Order: sequence, then C-alpha cells, then structure tokens
Amino acid sequence: MKIIVTGGAGFVGSTVCLALKKKYPSYTIVAFDNLKRRGSELNLIDFKTNNIDFVHGDIRNNEDILALGKFDVLVEASAEPSVTAGLDSDPTYVINNNLYGSINCFNACIKNNAKLIFLSTSRVYPIDTIEKAFYTEEETKFLFTENQTIKGISKKGISEELSLEGARSFYGTTKLSSELFIHEYAAFYGLQAAITRFGVIAGPRQMGKTDQGVVTLWMAKHYWNQSLKYIGYGGKGKQVRDLLHVDDLVALIEYQIHNIHKFTGKVYNAGGGLQNSASLQEMTAICEKITGNSIQIDEVEETRTADLRIYITDNSRIETEIGWKPKKTIEDIFTDIYHWIKENEKQLELILK
Ligand SMILES: NC(=O)c1ccc[n+]([C@@H]2O[C@H](COP(=O)([O-])OP(=O)(O)OC[C@H]3O[C@@H](n4cnc5c(N)ncnc54)[C@H](O)[C@@H]3O)[C@@H](O)[C@H]2O)c1
Repeated sequence: MKIIVTGGAGFVGSTVCLALKKKYPSYTIVAFDNLKRRGSELNLIDFKTNNIDFVHGDIRNNEDILALGKFDVLVEASAEPSVTAGLDSDPTYVINNNLYGSINCFNACIKNNAKLIFLSTSRVYPIDTIEKAFYTEEETKFLFTENQTIKGISKKGISEELSLEGARSFYGTTKLSSELFIHEYAAFYGLQAAITRFGVIAGPRQMGKTDQGVVTLWMAKHYWNQSLKYIGYGGKGKQVRDLLHVDDLVALIEYQIHNIHKFTGKVYNAGGGLQNSASLQEMTAICEKITGNSIQIDEVEETRTADLRIYITDNSRIETEIGWKPKKTIEDIFTDIYHWIKENEKQLELILK
C-alpha cells in the first residue's frame, strides 16, 4: 500500500504519516508538502528517522503530483486552513490553493484508481445561521439552549442537517466546493472517497498562531509567560469550541482508509463534541493549572469577522453509523501539547514564542 499525504508536513498530515508508519511499517508513506506553513520544516527530521518519504511539492502544480507515480490512497490534508484567509486580503490564494489544488489531487486519484480521504471543515456551515441560535450566558461560557428552532442545531451542537445556505468564509467555501466536486467524481468516475467535516483539531505538532491553532497558541503563551487577548463577544473569553485530539482524528482516518465503502457518497461531522468543549476562559484555567503560570489577558470587545460565538460538533451521525467517537479529553489535549513544547522547547520557541 502506498499512501500519499498532501500537507504531510503540517500538523494533521505529519501526525497521520507518523501514526500510519508506526502501525503499518510495510506501507510506503509519502509526505507531500510545499512547506508554506512556518514550522512544517521541523517535521522533516522525524520523517527521515521514521522511514517516511518526503516530497517537496505543491498541489497547485500538476507536474509535482504526477512525479509521485502510482499510489493507492491520497489523504488530502494540505490547505490554507485559516478561516480569515481572503477576508482581509485578495482571496485568490486561498481559492487556488484549497480548491484548484484539491481538484488536481482528485484527478490524480481517478488516474491511479486510488481512494481519497478528504479533510473538510465545520466551516462549511453558514455563519449567520449559527449566530442566530439561542444561547445562554453562564458564568464562564456561552452555551446553546435546549430549545432551538433551526433544524440541525441543538444543545448537542451542529449536525449535518443544518442548511448550507448563506455565507461561510472563503475558506469554508473552498472546502464545500471541493466536497461538491468529490460527489461528482464519485458519481461519474467511481471515485471512492471519505469526506469529514472536522471541528477544531488540536494536539502536539500544531504550529498555532493568532489566526489558526488557538489551543497551541493558548498553551504556548502560558508556557513562555506572554500575554493573550480575549477578542470579541464582549471580550470576556466566553466563546466556546469543541476540541478534537489529533489522535482521535488519526483513528478515524485509519478506519476510513480500510473501510472506504462505508463513507463513499456520505458526509460526516466529527469533533470533540459537547463533552470536549470549552470557552477561552476555561482554556485559560486549564493552561494555568498545567503550567503554573497566570498571564495577562486583555479584553477586546469587538468581534472578529467570520467568528462564531459557539461551535460544537454534534457527532450523533458518525457515532451511530460508523461507531467512531473521540476518546481523549480536553485535559489530554492540553497536557500533550505542554509536554511536546517542553520536550522541543529550543526549536519551538523560534516559531511559537
Ligand atoms: N486544524 C484544524 O482545526 C482543522 C479543522 C478542520 C479541518 N482542517 C483541515 O485539515 C487539513 C490539515 O490542517 P492542519 O491543521 O494540519 O493545517 P497545517 O497548516 O498545519 O497543515 C497544512 C500543510 O499543508 C501545506 N500546504 C499548504 N498549501 C500547500 C500546497 N499548495 N501544496 C502542498 N502543501 C501545501 C502547508 O505547508 C502545511 O504543512 C486542512 O485541509 C485543513 O483545512 C483543519
């Protein structure tokens, strides 16, 4: 089995490559990456020591993809993953990268008769609809209320039944467009594919920055005793996300690779779920407990473009139909990131500090 992981040197991609190689040493694992994301280059040493091939290439360039030769599976984990991409600057880059680049990957799968594992996002769901949901303000967080009137929103979170009508960010639109193309390739070219809409993914190897990778950012700033900001929704840090440990994602991808027939033609949400959700305030408390550091956090009342007060993944469909559910807790996520930073402090301070 030869598996290509595009974006293979990124947070998710590198974790997938290393985990698959460890479990299936006979598989050929190829990490394909243009190293655009700062910090991805740090993973190349681990690839070398773990017998993972690295190919420096760009999914926007068909010649780079053709040079990969024949393969059996492509995990499309490359992207410009920031939801603000293209909102405050020219959107051409995010569209070319995430949509046209992804289509090159889909064509390569057809050519090789290979399976496709596509990492989509909860950001396909429209912002205004989610912001209209009823919520309560608790002492440390906002929460969806029990009684909702919008189909697809409940106390448990956002399900696949939520209407897709409305704006969602350029990032989310490139992902939704890719999903639509995958359905076309499946219907007319027999592409076998798994599409998963992931909520916030977190864990070691994420090169967190202000516009993407909030969990690492939070832990890193506490670790090095720097400052942070609660931005938006009054500046109190009550906005909520559910967090999925990258190891739980790896378990799902591994299952998808070996059971693709269960996923073709379908779409699933997957995330930490209500149980693994936290507000920024609550994330601060966890970081303080683990690091022993209490840092300055400024309050900025104004809400950022494309932000959401609450996003929680309703995992009901994937739990019922596939039997997958997250095993790791929020505390596991923060603890694992803490140890990763501690063990790689010298290298990581160049990027995360
Ligand atoms: N991190 C999350 O919370 C999250 C949530 C939902 C979905 N996703 C999706 O999961 C995938 C992986 O995200 P991540 O968090 O690992 O991001 P990441 O930025 O850490 O990794 C993406 C990698 O892709 C590479 N890349 C970017 N453009 C490329 C191109 N044109 N050609 C080749 N390589 C390219 C980057 O250098 C980087 O190493 C993305 O598709 C993202 O949209 C992420």
